[in-house]
Amino acid sequence: MAFPTETVYGLGADASNPAALRKVFAAKGRPADHPLIVHIADMSELKHWAAEVPRAAWLLAEKFWPGPLTMVLKRSSHVNDLISGGQNTIGLRVPGHPVAQQLLKAFGAGIAAPSANKFGRLSPTTAQHVREELGDAVEIVLDGGPCDVGIESTIVDLSREPPAILRPGRVSAQQIADALLVPLGEPSGERPRMPGSLATHYAPRTPLMRVHADEIENFIRRQAPGAAVAVLARRSRPRDSRAALWQVAPQSPEEYAQHLYALLRRMDSAGCALLVVESPPDLPEWAAVHDRLSRAAVEPLLPAVAAGAAAR
Ligand code: TXA
Ligand code: MG
Repeated sequence: MAFPTETVYGLGADASNPAALRKVFAAKGRPADHPLIVHIADMSELKHWAAEVPRAAWLLAEKFWPGPLTMVLKRSSHVNDLISGGQNTIGLRVPGHPVAQQLLKAFGAGIAAPSANKFGRLSPTTAQHVREELGDAVEIVLDGGPCDVGIESTIVDLSREPPAILRPGRVSAQQIADALLVPLGEPSGERPRMPGSLATHYAPRTPLMRVHADEIENFIRRQAPGAAVAVLARRSRPRDSRAALWQVAPQSPEEYAQHLYALLRRMDSAGCALLVVESPPDLPEWAAVHDRLSRAAVEPLLPAVAAGAAAR
């Protein structure tokens, strides 16, 4: 069953039912060694899923749950290997969306849920997007309207010292450091595997490139002359633009993130040869957007892509 959360839609399964978990992997086409986040109704369930709940976890739970934050903790011994992907940790989150909350309360146990998209694709932020992604592979899609946050939760690893951000999101690294009163570490090579850290993830089908705002027209002229190019930028379309489609994005990082995947989906289905996205400002409040765009991008532009784009 797919259900809305405030970040993106999830494809849920009873976290203690291996058969249900296998169906989730099959529907997504996701490799079995990639761990799932378990969604819980409230922080009192932390103790059930985690072997140790450090003080830092209680602090962050108090401050940010329910909300768009996932904590990675040492797992309890009963946690199914399908959830932890063979690692000794577990990702836990209390979502804030009222439909997710009602579902968790009614179900009365943990729900493992990855984003409800095919492996490697953009996460869905509406019920319609879930249908387009997964089709018949999902029987029920609870429609809770478009997601408020629009990108996946922040993931903080509290299973080792110092804590580190594994995936940036709406809850910022600074907010977490301020709440914990400790500096955060860098995720090291020994950190757990996660598909979100593969080079390309959250990608549209059409090749995507990031280009500085002032360079967009030059870029199209030089790199993709004659190609149908779709542009996503925070400024309005210049009069003489050669873009086939010019999509104006919101100004603030929060609203930009909220609409990002829906905008990329729309551009992806416009039949263009190339998507050009204006590089957002190089500021901490844009970290999560930068992260998602860098995963969606094919860079540097491969000669074959440039040639293909030019030919179409
Ligand atoms: O906002 C979200 O987090 C959404 C909604 C549905 O809650 N879920 C989501 O799930 O984005 P998914 O599976 O698409 O991405 C979860 C990420 C993956 O990159 C996974 O590897 C990582 O979390 N993850 C899960 N458990 C982990 C663990 N124990 N250690 C490290 N990474 C973990
Ligand atoms: Mg995902």
